[in-house]
Amino acid sequence: MPIMEIKPNIFAVGTIDWDRRLFDELIPLPDGTSYNSYLIKGSEKIALIDTVDPIKEDELVDNLKKSNINKINYVISNHAEQDHSGGLPKILSAYPDAKVVTNPKCKDILMDLLLIPEDKFITIQNGETLSLGDKTLEFIIAPWVHWPETMLTYLREDKILFPCDLFGSHLATSELYVTDECKIYQSAKRYYAEIMMPFRTNIKKHIEKLNNYEIEIIAPSHGPVYNKSEFIMNAYKDWTSDNVKNEVILPFVSMHNSTRKMVDYFISALIKRNITVKPFNLAKTDIGELAMSLVDASTIVIGSPTVLTGPHPQVLYAVYLANALRPKLKYASVIGSYSWGGRMLDIIKSMITNLKVELIEPVMIKGYPKEDDFKLLDKLADEILKKHNNEGI
Ligand code: FEO
Repeated sequence: MPIMEIKPNIFAVGTIDWDRRLFDELIPLPDGTSYNSYLIKGSEKIALIDTVDPIKEDELVDNLKKSNINKINYVISNHAEQDHSGGLPKILSAYPDAKVVTNPKCKDILMDLLLIPEDKFITIQNGETLSLGDKTLEFIIAPWVHWPETMLTYLREDKILFPCDLFGSHLATSELYVTDECKIYQSAKRYYAEIMMPFRTNIKKHIEKLNNYEIEIIAPSHGPVYNKSEFIMNAYKDWTSDNVKNEVILPFVSMHNSTRKMVDYFISALIKRNITVKPFNLAKTDIGELAMSLVDASTIVIGSPTVLTGPHPQVLYAVYLANALRPKLKYASVIGSYSWGGRMLDIIKSMITNLKVELIEPVMIKGYPKEDDFKLLDKLADEILKKHNNEGI
């Protein structure tokens, strides 16, 4: 990809991965992704902010060489994860005089992961600055964006924040800036849900700290650049707040239609009570869509048949992920069927200890649902409505 100018002497030099469909062998990437790297030419020194995934490192070096960048003084490493740091050894080999500028924790991780020798580093502390001549970089340590070593870099004179993963989106696009806010809202929310939601409290504090900075442009390390920084800031403030919506998330699996019949009835019961319901058939769903739905819902109801005395394995996987992602859910319940017994409820309860939820009386039925079973589903919908009303949502 050709390099693109953000402002005079500030360039996007990273790479786009149009075809990648899975990250960490776990996270679906329906729209590909990008590994953004930025070059800042000061009057005296040149800095590169982050590198790219190793699969694209040759392209990064080509981008720089084609732009006649023959010297790099500093490579700023905001985050040690390999999709941003993996190209570091290649860059250090292409620009042997360059020093890696980062905080001590990130340095340790980079030395462990990439075997970069210690004498290649310059370590900085929170609030420290680095002069490039007419441009000044300020470093803001922001642990637990999702790793413990992360920092953000602020370019004072141009009011640009380089926050690495924070505010990013897995979206491959040829456009430098956000043009379709609806699209980017979805991609950024999905990214937040999959990567950052477990660290909501930390991220809230980082965003509060950023209120002290005048930020005109946010240049993250995935997806397009924001030239209206308040758009993504406001979205993050909403996602990290304690506010929840009048919504039920309903991940389910059915094998012989008993649970499916319950799910269909329950969806209608919720709709009749003006509760938004988002069902996810786990046999088919994109797990990223499910994660995104959990960002601001108040309630999860898990639907499962009984398999070998416990929940269906697809349900176990979804419950494990939901628990790991720590969404701000307030209520949970379970619906499902069994033929001769099982320990489904005990198993699910033992798996959601991270969720600070109140468990509403589950509806577990024997075999195919009958009239009395549907009444129990109505009762569950009534109870959810009452809880939501009490929350004022
Ligand atoms: Fe995009 Fe945490 O790496």
